[in-house]
Amino acid sequence: MTQIARELPGSTELHSILQQIGHVQQQISDGERAQDVDNSISVFNNFGSKKFPQAIIIGVKKGGTRALLEFLRIHPDVRAVGAEPHFFDRFYDKGLEWYRNLMPRTLDGQITMEKTPSYFVTKEAPRRVFGMSRHTKLIVVVRDPVTRAVSDYTQTLSKNPGLPTFQNLVFKNSSRGLIDTSWSAVRIGIYAKHLENWLQFFPLSRLLFVSGERLVTDPAGEMGRVQDFLGLKRVITDKHFYFNQTKGFPCLKKPEGSSRPRCLGKSKGRPHPHIPAEVLLRLRDFYRPFNLKFYQMTGQDFGWD
Ligand code: A3P
Repeated sequence: MTQIARELPGSTELHSILQQIGHVQQQISDGERAQDVDNSISVFNNFGSKKFPQAIIIGVKKGGTRALLEFLRIHPDVRAVGAEPHFFDRFYDKGLEWYRNLMPRTLDGQITMEKTPSYFVTKEAPRRVFGMSRHTKLIVVVRDPVTRAVSDYTQTLSKNPGLPTFQNLVFKNSSRGLIDTSWSAVRIGIYAKHLENWLQFFPLSRLLFVSGERLVTDPAGEMGRVQDFLGLKRVITDKHFYFNQTKGFPCLKKPEGSSRPRCLGKSKGRPHPHIPAEVLLRLRDFYRPFNLKFYQMTGQDFGWD
Protein backbone atom coordinates (compact mmCIF):
# COMPACT_ATOMS: atom_id res chain seq x y z
CA MET A 1 0.00 0.00 0.00
CA THR A 2 2.88 2.39 0.74
CA GLN A 3 4.03 1.67 -2.79
CA ILE A 4 0.63 2.58 -4.18
CA ALA A 5 0.52 5.75 -2.15
CA ARG A 6 3.98 6.84 -3.34
CA GLU A 7 3.14 6.31 -6.97
CA LEU A 8 -0.19 8.00 -6.63
CA PRO A 9 -0.78 10.22 -9.66
CA GLY A 10 -4.43 11.22 -9.87
CA SER A 11 -7.68 11.75 -8.05
CA THR A 12 -9.22 8.40 -9.10
CA GLU A 13 -6.44 6.55 -7.36
CA LEU A 14 -6.67 8.85 -4.37
CA HIS A 15 -10.32 8.06 -4.17
CA SER A 16 -9.71 4.34 -4.32
CA ILE A 17 -7.06 4.47 -1.58
CA LEU A 18 -9.36 6.56 0.57
CA GLN A 19 -11.99 3.86 0.11
CA GLN A 20 -9.47 1.27 1.27
CA ILE A 21 -8.70 3.35 4.35
CA GLY A 22 -12.41 3.44 5.01
CA HIS A 23 -12.54 -0.35 4.88
CA VAL A 24 -9.59 -0.76 7.22
CA GLN A 25 -11.33 1.64 9.62
CA GLN A 26 -14.58 -0.27 9.31
CA GLN A 27 -12.84 -3.37 10.55
CA ILE A 28 -11.92 -1.65 13.77
CA SER A 29 -14.44 -2.70 16.37
CA ASP A 30 -16.22 -0.40 18.82
CA GLY A 31 -13.98 -1.23 21.74
CA GLU A 32 -10.62 -0.45 20.20
CA ARG A 33 -8.74 2.72 20.96
CA ALA A 34 -8.75 5.55 18.45
CA GLN A 35 -4.95 5.48 18.43
CA ASP A 36 -5.07 1.93 17.04
CA VAL A 37 -7.22 3.12 14.17
CA ASP A 38 -4.70 5.82 13.47
CA ASN A 39 -1.80 3.36 13.45
CA SER A 40 -3.65 0.96 11.19
CA ILE A 41 -3.99 3.55 8.47
CA SER A 42 -0.61 5.23 8.86
CA VAL A 43 0.83 3.40 5.86
CA PHE A 44 -1.60 5.23 3.60
CA ASN A 45 -0.89 8.61 5.06
CA ASN A 46 1.16 10.26 2.36
CA PHE A 47 -1.45 12.83 1.48
CA GLY A 48 -4.14 15.05 2.94
CA SER A 49 -4.06 16.53 6.41
CA LYS A 50 -5.58 15.89 9.79
CA LYS A 51 -8.32 18.37 10.58
CA PHE A 52 -10.67 18.92 13.48
CA PRO A 53 -14.02 17.30 12.81
CA GLN A 54 -16.47 19.61 11.08
CA ALA A 55 -19.31 17.35 12.21
CA ILE A 56 -19.73 15.16 15.30
CA ILE A 57 -22.33 12.55 16.19
CA ILE A 58 -22.78 13.63 19.82
CA GLY A 59 -25.46 11.15 20.88
CA VAL A 60 -27.37 9.41 22.07
CA LYS A 61 -26.03 6.22 23.55
CA LYS A 62 -27.96 3.23 22.07
CA GLY A 63 -29.74 5.54 19.63
CA GLY A 64 -28.24 3.92 16.53
CA THR A 65 -25.05 5.98 16.42
CA ARG A 66 -22.86 3.16 15.07
CA ALA A 67 -25.30 2.45 12.26
CA LEU A 68 -25.35 6.13 11.31
CA LEU A 69 -21.56 6.44 11.27
CA GLU A 70 -21.06 3.23 9.28
CA PHE A 71 -23.68 4.31 6.75
CA LEU A 72 -22.06 7.73 6.41
CA ARG A 73 -18.69 6.19 5.71
CA ILE A 74 -19.97 4.92 2.39
CA HIS A 75 -19.81 8.50 1.24
CA PRO A 76 -16.52 9.32 -0.55
CA ASP A 77 -16.49 12.79 1.00
CA VAL A 78 -16.71 11.56 4.59
CA ARG A 79 -13.76 10.27 6.62
CA ALA A 80 -14.34 9.24 10.20
CA VAL A 81 -12.54 7.87 13.23
CA GLY A 82 -13.70 4.29 13.78
CA ALA A 83 -13.47 4.21 17.58
CA GLU A 84 -14.99 6.72 19.97
CA PRO A 85 -12.35 9.33 20.90
CA HIS A 86 -14.16 10.54 24.09
CA PHE A 87 -12.17 13.75 23.88
CA PHE A 88 -14.78 16.25 25.08
CA ASP A 89 -15.76 14.13 28.06
CA ARG A 90 -12.83 11.96 29.24
CA PHE A 91 -9.64 13.15 27.58
CA TYR A 92 -10.07 16.91 27.29
CA ASP A 93 -6.91 17.53 29.32
CA LYS A 94 -4.86 15.89 26.56
CA GLY A 95 -5.41 19.00 24.49
CA LEU A 96 -6.78 19.82 21.06
CA GLU A 97 -3.66 18.74 19.16
CA TRP A 98 -3.94 15.25 20.64
CA TYR A 99 -7.52 15.18 19.42
CA ARG A 100 -6.70 16.41 15.94
CA ASN A 101 -3.98 13.79 15.67
CA LEU A 102 -6.60 11.05 16.14
CA MET A 103 -8.39 12.17 13.00
CA PRO A 104 -7.92 10.49 9.63
CA ARG A 105 -6.27 12.55 6.91
CA THR A 106 -8.65 14.25 4.55
CA LEU A 107 -8.41 16.04 1.25
CA ASP A 108 -10.00 19.43 0.65
CA GLY A 109 -13.74 19.02 0.35
CA GLN A 110 -13.90 15.95 2.53
CA ILE A 111 -15.59 16.08 5.92
CA THR A 112 -13.84 14.77 9.04
CA MET A 113 -16.18 13.14 11.55
CA GLU A 114 -16.22 11.28 14.83
CA LYS A 115 -18.90 9.88 17.11
CA THR A 116 -18.94 9.79 20.90
CA PRO A 117 -22.52 9.40 22.18
CA SER A 118 -21.71 10.44 25.76
CA TYR A 119 -21.02 14.03 24.63
CA PHE A 120 -24.76 14.73 24.50
CA VAL A 121 -25.13 14.22 28.26
CA THR A 122 -21.81 15.77 29.31
CA LYS A 123 -22.35 19.16 30.94
CA GLU A 124 -19.01 20.62 29.78
CA ALA A 125 -19.14 19.27 26.23
CA PRO A 126 -21.12 22.10 24.55
CA ARG A 127 -18.69 24.75 25.80
CA ARG A 128 -15.70 22.65 24.81
CA VAL A 129 -16.94 21.83 21.32
CA PHE A 130 -17.82 25.50 20.84
CA GLY A 131 -14.28 26.33 21.93
CA MET A 132 -12.92 24.13 19.13
CA SER A 133 -15.25 25.64 16.53
CA ARG A 134 -18.59 27.38 16.77
CA HIS A 135 -19.30 26.07 13.25
CA THR A 136 -19.23 22.40 14.25
CA LYS A 137 -22.29 20.53 12.97
CA LEU A 138 -23.87 18.34 15.62
CA ILE A 139 -25.87 15.21 14.93
CA VAL A 140 -28.01 13.50 17.55
CA VAL A 141 -29.64 10.14 16.88
CA VAL A 142 -32.63 9.93 19.20
CA ARG A 143 -34.76 6.89 19.95
CA ASP A 144 -37.82 6.31 22.11
CA PRO A 145 -36.32 6.87 25.59
CA VAL A 146 -38.13 3.80 26.96
CA THR A 147 -36.62 1.37 24.44
CA ARG A 148 -33.36 3.28 24.69
CA ALA A 149 -33.30 2.65 28.45
CA VAL A 150 -34.00 -1.06 27.92
CA SER A 151 -31.28 -1.22 25.27
CA ASP A 152 -28.84 0.49 27.63
CA TYR A 153 -29.76 -1.95 30.41
CA THR A 154 -29.35 -4.90 28.01
CA GLN A 155 -25.84 -3.73 27.16
CA THR A 156 -24.85 -3.47 30.85
CA LEU A 157 -26.45 -6.84 31.56
CA SER A 158 -24.41 -8.46 28.79
CA LYS A 159 -21.22 -7.34 30.55
CA ASN A 160 -22.49 -8.05 34.04
CA PRO A 161 -24.96 -10.97 34.13
CA GLY A 162 -25.45 -10.55 37.91
CA LEU A 163 -27.12 -7.16 37.45
CA PRO A 164 -30.45 -6.66 39.30
CA THR A 165 -33.58 -6.69 37.12
CA PHE A 166 -34.61 -3.60 35.14
CA GLN A 167 -37.61 -3.05 37.42
CA ASN A 168 -35.34 -3.19 40.47
CA LEU A 169 -33.17 -0.43 39.08
CA VAL A 170 -35.74 1.83 37.45
CA PHE A 171 -37.77 2.68 40.57
CA LYS A 172 -36.67 4.78 43.51
CA ASN A 173 -39.72 3.56 45.34
CA SER A 174 -41.61 0.90 43.46
CA SER A 175 -44.75 1.01 45.62
CA ARG A 176 -45.16 4.72 44.80
CA GLY A 177 -43.91 4.25 41.23
CA LEU A 178 -41.21 6.89 41.57
CA ILE A 179 -38.65 6.66 38.76
CA ASP A 180 -34.99 6.82 39.72
CA THR A 181 -33.60 9.64 37.61
CA SER A 182 -30.14 9.13 39.06
CA TRP A 183 -29.87 5.86 37.08
CA SER A 184 -28.03 6.77 33.91
CA ALA A 185 -30.24 4.49 31.78
CA VAL A 186 -33.14 6.78 32.76
CA ARG A 187 -31.30 10.11 32.87
CA ILE A 188 -29.88 9.90 29.35
CA GLY A 189 -33.42 9.71 27.90
CA ILE A 190 -34.47 13.12 29.30
CA TYR A 191 -33.44 14.62 25.97
CA ALA A 192 -34.99 18.07 26.55
CA LYS A 193 -32.81 18.64 29.59
CA HIS A 194 -29.56 17.77 27.82
CA LEU A 195 -30.52 19.71 24.71
CA GLU A 196 -30.92 22.87 26.80
CA ASN A 197 -27.20 22.76 27.58
CA TRP A 198 -26.29 22.58 23.88
CA LEU A 199 -28.65 25.40 22.94
CA GLN A 200 -26.78 27.72 25.26
CA PHE A 201 -23.87 27.53 22.83
CA PHE A 202 -25.23 26.43 19.46
CA PRO A 203 -28.28 27.59 17.48
CA LEU A 204 -30.83 24.88 16.68
CA SER A 205 -29.83 25.13 13.00
CA ARG A 206 -26.42 23.68 13.90
CA LEU A 207 -28.05 20.49 15.20
CA LEU A 208 -29.66 17.64 13.30
CA PHE A 209 -31.92 15.15 15.04
CA VAL A 210 -32.00 11.77 13.39
CA SER A 211 -34.83 9.41 14.25
CA GLY A 212 -33.35 6.16 15.50
CA GLU A 213 -36.61 4.42 14.55
CA ARG A 214 -36.56 5.71 10.97
CA LEU A 215 -32.90 4.85 10.65
CA VAL A 216 -34.12 1.24 10.92
CA THR A 217 -37.35 1.46 8.88
CA ASP A 218 -36.12 3.90 6.21
CA PRO A 219 -32.31 4.19 6.35
CA ALA A 220 -32.03 5.80 2.91
CA GLY A 221 -34.61 8.47 3.76
CA GLU A 222 -32.87 9.35 7.01
CA MET A 223 -29.46 9.33 5.31
CA GLY A 224 -30.84 11.78 2.75
CA ARG A 225 -31.56 14.26 5.54
CA VAL A 226 -28.11 13.72 7.03
CA GLN A 227 -26.33 14.27 3.72
CA ASP A 228 -28.32 17.47 3.12
CA PHE A 229 -27.45 18.74 6.58
CA LEU A 230 -23.75 18.06 5.98
CA GLY A 231 -23.88 19.77 2.58
CA LEU A 232 -22.98 16.51 0.84
CA LYS A 233 -24.19 15.23 -2.50
CA ARG A 234 -26.86 12.56 -1.97
CA VAL A 235 -24.64 9.59 -2.75
CA ILE A 236 -26.03 7.20 -0.13
CA THR A 237 -29.43 6.02 -1.36
CA ASP A 238 -31.73 3.04 -1.07
CA LYS A 239 -29.54 1.11 -3.49
CA HIS A 240 -27.00 0.75 -0.66
CA PHE A 241 -29.34 -1.03 1.77
CA TYR A 242 -31.24 -4.26 2.09
CA PHE A 243 -33.25 -5.56 5.01
CA ASN A 244 -31.62 -8.62 6.52
CA GLN A 245 -34.46 -10.80 7.83
CA THR A 246 -32.20 -12.84 10.10
CA LYS A 247 -30.72 -9.80 11.78
CA GLY A 248 -33.97 -7.88 11.69
CA PHE A 249 -32.16 -4.72 10.63
CA PRO A 250 -31.03 -2.99 7.47
CA CYS A 251 -27.53 -3.95 6.34
CA LEU A 252 -25.23 -2.59 3.68
CA LYS A 253 -25.18 -4.26 0.29
CA LYS A 254 -21.65 -5.18 -0.71
CA PRO A 255 -19.65 -2.09 0.29
CA GLU A 256 -17.13 -1.07 -2.39
CA GLY A 257 -14.03 -3.22 -2.31
CA SER A 258 -15.75 -5.95 -0.33
CA SER A 259 -17.19 -9.18 -1.65
CA ARG A 260 -19.93 -9.60 0.95
CA PRO A 261 -22.83 -7.57 2.31
CA ARG A 262 -22.22 -6.14 5.74
CA CYS A 263 -24.41 -5.99 8.84
CA LEU A 264 -23.37 -4.39 12.13
CA GLY A 265 -21.87 -6.69 14.77
CA LYS A 266 -23.69 -8.87 17.30
CA SER A 267 -23.75 -6.14 19.96
CA LYS A 268 -25.96 -4.00 17.68
CA GLY A 269 -29.52 -5.20 17.44
CA ARG A 270 -29.48 -7.47 20.49
CA PRO A 271 -32.66 -9.10 21.78
CA HIS A 272 -33.95 -7.31 24.88
CA PRO A 273 -35.05 -9.15 28.05
CA HIS A 274 -38.76 -9.21 28.85
CA ILE A 275 -39.80 -6.30 31.10
CA PRO A 276 -43.32 -6.30 32.63
CA ALA A 277 -45.71 -4.10 30.63
CA GLU A 278 -46.74 -2.04 33.69
CA VAL A 279 -43.12 -1.10 34.34
CA LEU A 280 -42.69 0.11 30.77
CA LEU A 281 -46.00 2.02 30.95
CA ARG A 282 -44.90 3.77 34.11
CA LEU A 283 -41.63 4.75 32.47
CA ARG A 284 -43.52 5.95 29.38
CA ASP A 285 -45.68 8.18 31.61
CA PHE A 286 -42.55 9.55 33.21
CA TYR A 287 -40.98 10.51 29.87
CA ARG A 288 -44.15 11.94 28.24
CA PRO A 289 -43.76 15.58 29.38
CA PHE A 290 -40.04 15.58 28.60
CA ASN A 291 -40.73 14.13 25.14
CA LEU A 292 -43.33 16.82 24.42
CA LYS A 293 -40.88 19.49 25.50
CA PHE A 294 -38.26 17.93 23.24
CA TYR A 295 -40.69 17.94 20.26
CA GLN A 296 -41.37 21.63 20.92
CA MET A 297 -37.70 22.50 21.19
CA THR A 298 -36.73 20.67 18.00
CA GLY A 299 -39.90 21.32 16.01
CA GLN A 300 -40.06 17.57 15.29
CA ASP A 301 -42.56 15.01 16.51
CA PHE A 302 -40.80 11.68 16.95
CA GLY A 303 -44.05 9.83 17.69
CA TRP A 304 -42.96 8.11 20.87
CA ASP A 305 -46.23 8.51 22.75
P1 A3P B 1 -30.28 -2.66 20.29
O1 A3P B 1 -29.05 -3.51 20.29
O2 A3P B 1 -30.82 -2.42 21.64
O3 A3P B 1 -31.34 -3.15 19.34
P2 A3P B 1 -25.62 2.51 19.26
O4 A3P B 1 -24.85 2.18 18.02
O5 A3P B 1 -25.84 3.99 19.41
O6 A3P B 1 -25.06 1.84 20.47
O7 A3P B 1 -27.08 1.94 19.07
C1 A3P B 1 -27.34 0.57 19.05
C2 A3P B 1 -28.72 0.40 18.47
O8 A3P B 1 -28.70 0.72 17.09
C3 A3P B 1 -29.24 -1.02 18.50
O9 A3P B 1 -29.87 -1.20 19.74
C4 A3P B 1 -30.20 -1.08 17.32
O10 A3P B 1 -31.55 -1.06 17.70
C5 A3P B 1 -29.90 0.21 16.56
N1 A3P B 1 -29.72 0.07 15.12
C6 A3P B 1 -30.14 0.98 14.21
N2 A3P B 1 -29.86 0.58 12.98
C7 A3P B 1 -29.23 -0.61 13.08
C8 A3P B 1 -28.70 -1.52 12.12
N3 A3P B 1 -28.77 -1.25 10.82
N4 A3P B 1 -28.13 -2.66 12.58
C9 A3P B 1 -28.09 -2.92 13.91
N5 A3P B 1 -28.56 -2.08 14.86
C10 A3P B 1 -29.14 -0.93 14.46
